[in-house]
Formats: sequence, C-alpha cells, structure tokens
Amino acid sequence: MTAGQEAQWVRIHPLVVRVTHWVNALAILIMATSGWRIYDASPLFVFKIPPAITLGGWLAGALLWHFAAMWLLAVNGLVYLAYGFVSGHFRRKLWPIRPRAVIADLLAALRGRLAHDDLTVYNAAQRAAYATLILALITLVLSGLAIWKPVQLQGLAALLGGYEGARLVHFVAMALTVCIVVVHVAMVALVPKTFPTMITGRIRRRA
Ligand code: HEM
Repeated sequence: MTAGQEAQWVRIHPLVVRVTHWVNALAILIMATSGWRIYDASPLFVFKIPPAITLGGWLAGALLWHFAAMWLLAVNGLVYLAYGFVSGHFRRKLWPIRPRAVIADLLAALRGRLAHDDLTVYNAAQRAAYATLILALITLVLSGLAIWKPVQLQGLAALLGGYEGARLVHFVAMALTVCIVVVHVAMVALVPKTFPTMITGRIRRRA
C-alpha cells in the first residue's frame, strides 16, 4: 500500500449530533407510544390504536409518560437545533435541498438504485427527509404545548385553529414523523454500514 492509499479515520457525525440523535429516538419512542394510549381514550377518528403497542396502561399512566418524555424531547431538541445552527452543521449537511435532486433520488431509491457510497455527505432524499422530520418535530412540540395549555397559550392555539385544530395538527405531525422514521430505519437496515457511524461518529476510508 502506498502512502497515498493509507486508510484514515474521518469524523462524520459530531458527538453532540450522536448523543442528541439517540436521546431523541428514545424520547420519540416514548412520546409516540404513550400518545397512542392517550388518543385511544378520546379518538379523533373512527379507529383506535391496538393497546399492545401503546405505553402507560391507562390514560393517567400514559399522560405521565408523555409529560415526562416531553421535557426530554424539547430540551434535547433545543440543544440539537442550537448546535445545528450555531456550528454550521445544518448548513454543511442538510443544505441545499433542491427539489429536482430530491425527486431524482427518491425515484432511484424506489428502483433500489440509490447509491450511498460516500457517508460523509447526505444524499438529496436524506436531506429532505431529515429537514421534514425536524420541522414535523417542531410542529409536534408547538401543537402539543397548545393542547396542554390552551388558555395560557391561546395565541398559539388560535394560530393552529383552536384546541380541536391543534389536536388535528398534533396527530398529522405524529403520523408524518412515524412514517419518516419507519422509512429512515428501513434505509439504515438496507445500508447497515451507516449504523455504527451514528455510534462512533467515524468511518475508515482510503486517503
Ligand atoms: C426515532 C426517531 C429518529 C429520528 C427523529 C431520527 C432522526 C435522524 C436525523 C435528523 C438524522 C440526521 C442527523 C444529523 O446529521 O443532524 C439521522 C441520522 C441517522 N439515523 Fe436516525 N432518527 C431516528 C431513529 C433512528 C434509529 C432507530 C436508527 C437506527 C436503527 C437511526 C439511525 C441513523 C443513522 C445510522 C443515521 C446516519 C445516516 C447516515 O450517515 O447516512 N435513527 N437520524
């Protein structure tokens, strides 16, 4: 092997991103499953969520889980957002998002032809998915606050169409989040070499 071909460790996911990513994944798991139990106590639509995949056992138990994980999600999310903007992480990794490139990558992914050889950059479909996920989570937290304190935060609640409107927005943002996370985890399973990078933060590649 010549000097130019020596393998080197390249850092691709900073520590803050890795820690907030896994705390976020745990918080979302608790928020979604306890939220489904709360939904079942007063469903918005004709269907109910199977109790076997909900958390909390009953309405009061689910509310306790939901309010506990809410702080984890919100504080952790604020750390991630502050780091993302201040350090330039979002500008470097999630920007720009060009609709043509996103559509081309989505079509390639559906045909099973989306290459993810260079793990130091996110492809256009990933950037769009992560940015949508971040916006969906912000919407979830804001609509959740409006449902929690509709009197104190009546300006926010009014912006979301009142209490019932905020409930609908909360449900739609939850559904969008769950759909993107399911696809996200499926993509990680299809490209398993990405998984350890979200733990160690590094990849080994030829210089
Ligand atoms: C449950 C909620 C989850 C959310 C909201 C989420 C969100 C995200 C976001 C926003 C990123 C980009 C991070 C950045 O660079 O700023 C990311 C990357 C990543 N996530 Fe998740 N994630 C979740 C769950 C998971 C799970 C369960 C796994 C593993 C099975 C996983 C594996 C990964 C990996 C491997 C990457 C890096 C992908 C790459 O380098 O190409 N995520 N995730």
